[in-house]
Amino acid sequence: MKLTFIGTGYVGLVSGIALCHLGHNVKCVDLDQSKINKLKNFELPIFEEGLEGYLNLYGNTERLEFEAGYSDSLADSEAIFITVGTPELPDGQANLEYIFDAVLQVAALTRPDCLIVIKSTVPPQTGQKLKELLKKNGYTHEVASNPEFLREGTALMDFLNPDRVVIGCDSQRGKSILQKIYQPLLDQGTELVATDITTSELIKYGANSFLACKVAFINEFADLCELIGADVTTLSRGIGLDKRIGSSFLNAGPGFGGSCFPKDILALQHFSKTVQSDFFILDAVVKANKQRAGRIIEKIKNFMASSLQGKKIAIFGLTYKAGTDDLRSSPALEIINLLKQQGAEIVAYDPQGMKNTAQYFDELVCAGTPYLAAQGADLVIIATEWSEFTELDFDLLKKQMNSSNIVDLRNVLDKQKITQAGFKSFFIGQKT
Ligand code: UGA
Repeated sequence: MKLTFIGTGYVGLVSGIALCHLGHNVKCVDLDQSKINKLKNFELPIFEEGLEGYLNLYGNTERLEFEAGYSDSLADSEAIFITVGTPELPDGQANLEYIFDAVLQVAALTRPDCLIVIKSTVPPQTGQKLKELLKKNGYTHEVASNPEFLREGTALMDFLNPDRVVIGCDSQRGKSILQKIYQPLLDQGTELVATDITTSELIKYGANSFLACKVAFINEFADLCELIGADVTTLSRGIGLDKRIGSSFLNAGPGFGGSCFPKDILALQHFSKTVQSDFFILDAVVKANKQRAGRIIEKIKNFMASSLQGKKIAIFGLTYKAGTDDLRSSPALEIINLLKQQGAEIVAYDPQGMKNTAQYFDELVCAGTPYLAAQGADLVIIATEWSEFTELDFDLLKKQMNSSNIVDLRNVLDKQKITQAGFKSFFIGQKT
């Protein structure tokens, strides 16, 4: 089938390239000419496992094309996926300006039977608003919802092996088009959830806010464990083995970040209020995650049993999680800012994220290796769960440091190993 993606951000690029791999002819459109030029030269604007291989494989065939700006070439598209950004406005609501603009642009260039599929994360009832907008402007295109559940770092694998495909349509025709697009995944046994547009939009918010809720929940338990000498890792295992609960998203840490959870929760919170729905749990999750970095600083101060003024601290990990170069809403960044406010001197290391620090800090000293970052340090903080940190030579690390202290905010290090190497350590939600 002939498919077009509007917006070559994370979701658009991964979904477009993956659907090309599943046999469709895909065109990826972006207003940013330099981004398109790079893609035409097989350069990816994002770091994502496996994506480069597929770009090289399909990028010089007719199956995958990149185009800057809207043009008549969209006319033969059978479905157009809108994958532009929905950034957060100051009051928490999602900015739908880019979606509205993209939908009107594609409606003007395509046949009325071209299905307009909203893949960007949008608040419930956006599809209804788009239908009204199209009608008002004299277009008869059908709108559908098809949220995406891919995670950065494993996005391609998530797209090709999803737990479910969710589609929201008003007509059997729209449903058939989307079913045909996803047939290769349905043939491999993937469940299809076909529903109305508003429920489909809400499913995306439901999934992200529930997962964020699990993370906030286990982080609160971690605090409780520290107070009473219990162990959150075993607690997670003990409750997660109950199939009704499930073991994923129960790793305690510095709080959830990234471009999705924080933004989507605020958007859902804002939306709920506009329809007079009291969503008390959401309020608590937002509050718990917001105060997380501050609590982490208190834990660090207690562990060091001193002021942090003048202390040299090496931060291992800047990205909001391992497997990505993305620093958006990363807890590590807020922790660094709070540590600096306390007078600490920071040197950071991250295997992928250091190239993006200029957008977030006027000045952040980074080092080329963890060992260099730790030179003369009083403390090492593991802020991201990169596997590289678990494989460090801790004897060598200790030799670089002024005092051998480690705070592991992700509970990934082997406590016995670092204790044997002579480190004093603090783990989240564990007995000290
Ligand atoms: C999330 C969802 O998992 C995807 O399904 C969704 O498609 C995506 O948002 C989106 O809306 O686009 P992502 O932001 O890539 O994906 O990251 P996650 O792997 O979900 O992690 C989110 C945050 O929670 C990270 O900061 C991570 O470190 C934290 N987390 C996760 C924990 O602290 N503990 C856990 O046990 C799991």
